[in-house]
Amino acid sequence: MLVIVRDEYESVSKTAAQLLAGKIRRKPNLVLGLATGSTPLGLYKELIRMHEEDDLDFSNVVTFNLDEYIGLPPEHDQSYYYFMKANLFDHININLSNVHVPKGMFGEIEINDLYVDPKIDEFCQWYENRISHFGGIDVQVLGIGSNGHIAFNEPGSSLGSRTRVKTLTKLTKVDNSRFFEKMEDVPRYAITMGIGTIMDAKEIIMLASGEGKADAVSASVEGPITAMCPASMLQIHRKSFTIIDTPAASKLAAEFVTYS
Ligand code: F6R
Repeated sequence: MLVIVRDEYESVSKTAAQLLAGKIRRKPNLVLGLATGSTPLGLYKELIRMHEEDDLDFSNVVTFNLDEYIGLPPEHDQSYYYFMKANLFDHININLSNVHVPKGMFGEIEINDLYVDPKIDEFCQWYENRISHFGGIDVQVLGIGSNGHIAFNEPGSSLGSRTRVKTLTKLTKVDNSRFFEKMEDVPRYAITMGIGTIMDAKEIIMLASGEGKADAVSASVEGPITAMCPASMLQIHRKSFTIIDTPAASKLAAEFVTYS
């Protein structure tokens, strides 16, 4: 794992964008795994700038998003599909038929903590097959939850898990409630790539910014590899980059080089 500490969020975003842009220029049909949330917004802004000013071409890039809330249609302003369109896809020359965001709507379905409708399982298998069809994910972008989650793989998630339904923890619902009018509107379930799915990506770029992520970053980079911190699995990935700002790095014991 290569840990890169930058002095501010903007440099984190620019470093990640430069890494990705280089990969897209070398392989125009790159298979790119994408994340939502606040952290990658600066990266997406920089990729849009590179598209507009430096001719970065997305026309053959294929994307797979990590996750989607169950119960939100794509046009809902809090769905991850909507987020991706508003913050990236609408501003670059990506072909929307190359874009994959797990679907959140399944018509009439039954779902509770013990029973998942087979329609959802079928979709999850299709998503995994679709990733394989494109030869696997070349680079996966990740954020990290304040509890160490990656995608919606909350603490306790199976380390070998594949795309499936997860119940959101209380902490994640509280963290995400800032985007909803009231707490009751925050969805209870999501479809998410599993930790095994993420680990199959050929490269991983995990981003984190701010002091609120310092504990999670320290557990992921220096803690034991444990299901209680899903991001700690990145320690055994063959090629992962953790790009963070100084506040997010503030609880790391080892000395990492800070680039300004
Ligand atoms: C988003 C996702 C989540 C976020 C994480 C951090 O697709 O899967 O794991 O990456 O919750 O979110 P932010 O960046 O908003 O702090």
